[in-house]
Amino acid sequence: MRADIGVYGLGTMGSALALNMIDNGFVVAVSNRSDDKIAPFLKEADGLSGSAEGHSDLGAFVEALKTPRTVLLMVPSGKATDAMIDALRPLLSDGDTIIDGGNADFNDTRSRHAAVDGSGVHFVGMGVSGGEEGARRGPSMMVGGSAHSWAQFRPMAEAIAADFEGTPCVAHVGPDGAGHFVKTVHNGIEYADMQMIAEIYGIQRDMAGLPVAEIGAMFARWKQGPLSSYLIESAADVLAATESQTGRPMIEVIVDSAGQKGTGRWTVIEALKLGQSASAIEAAVGARGWSSEKEARVAGQDTLTLGAQSFEMPSEADLEAAMLAGRILAHAQGFRVMAVASEAFEWSLDMAQIAEIWRAGCIIRSALLDVFADAFRGTLRHDHMILAPAMASRLAETLPGLRRVVVAANLAGQPVPALSAALAWHDSMAAARGTADMIQGLRDYFGAHGFERIDADGAHHGDWG
Ligand code: 6PG
Repeated sequence: MRADIGVYGLGTMGSALALNMIDNGFVVAVSNRSDDKIAPFLKEADGLSGSAEGHSDLGAFVEALKTPRTVLLMVPSGKATDAMIDALRPLLSDGDTIIDGGNADFNDTRSRHAAVDGSGVHFVGMGVSGGEEGARRGPSMMVGGSAHSWAQFRPMAEAIAADFEGTPCVAHVGPDGAGHFVKTVHNGIEYADMQMIAEIYGIQRDMAGLPVAEIGAMFARWKQGPLSSYLIESAADVLAATESQTGRPMIEVIVDSAGQKGTGRWTVIEALKLGQSASAIEAAVGARGWSSEKEARVAGQDTLTLGAQSFEMPSEADLEAAMLAGRILAHAQGFRVMAVASEAFEWSLDMAQIAEIWRAGCIIRSALLDVFADAFRGTLRHDHMILAPAMASRLAETLPGLRRVVVAANLAGQPVPALSAALAWHDSMAAARGTADMIQGLRDYFGAHGFERIDADGAHHGDWG
């Protein structure tokens, strides 16, 4: 029997996706750089409704596939992906597709797509979200590449994807690197959301002095409300966990230095290249960077003076409102970056569709995504989600809370970089008259860069004397 798909790379995500496919009745050929992973995988797949075959030889692996062939690569991004594409290409024929399901830089995906374009072989960059559990039981998937490859892969993709009220959380979002770009922005939003959760945890820990269990209970209460989401549930679980050796809350034994693999940073870099600033995401990426300078911060606490002032402790309702406003604003920045990228790369991204495929399966799944999808289906002014009436009114309800939280934190000397950045962006977007007249005046004063006048066309210079 010929296999429906070949999965190369039996790491955590690769094997979970392959098992998901087999569970859904597909015949899957698998292979891996080192053979030792193949037999345990086949044992795990035994008894599922589809079937699996393992191949240590790449030629035999490709030969096992139905034509036109689909090969899903689940290998580390970068050199390993390039090496696999080089090894596979001579073995593939017209109409075959290579899908890269890793977290690749969309610029690499565009180059890889361009390198095979016209050769008959197709290259697809696909974002997969949901971690191991999502991959096994139903991820959210953002597929790029050609319509031909999508038609070939779609039945399998829809069968294995997470399900939101009968709709699979997968779509062909656009050509070439669009899938990986959308996944990158997803991760940027993930960074901002996690940072805001951490900031609110910090306010309760340091400003209110609450014990871990009480902070966890607050996040648990929020699970049912407008903040209902996977990340708020996860925050409640993380704070409820106890470390078995010491009996202390798990969170108290974790060093406050965060790692990152790069996707959040890519969002910020691409946003800046496109003339945008996803400032809440940027703050989250930056905060992870500062967090890793542990020794400098220890010295900083001894050396720097906060000048803290008395403050009014925000209520739980204010903290909830701040998190909600911050979450809306971070998503709005992410969607804005995608809108500008869509125009620059001629992708025709459908923002409502993207919000819809994030409603289940992915790390940022939340009750708000359905609200965002509705906002994008309505009339959108200037490509900004926050200008949709439903979003503007949600912001109007939550902004007072966000303001009180940011002010209180500032007075206390408690860092809230992502919440502050989100608020500053909101206020900048709400100001019909900003302060860039001063920037333009200064640029013309020292560099004769010229400026536009409010009352005449063309470029002008000031009478600077
Ligand atoms: C997902 C996640 C997943 C992972 C990222 C971010 O959507 O399933 O985003 O891809 O969490 O690799 O990891 P870092 O926080 O290490 O950058």
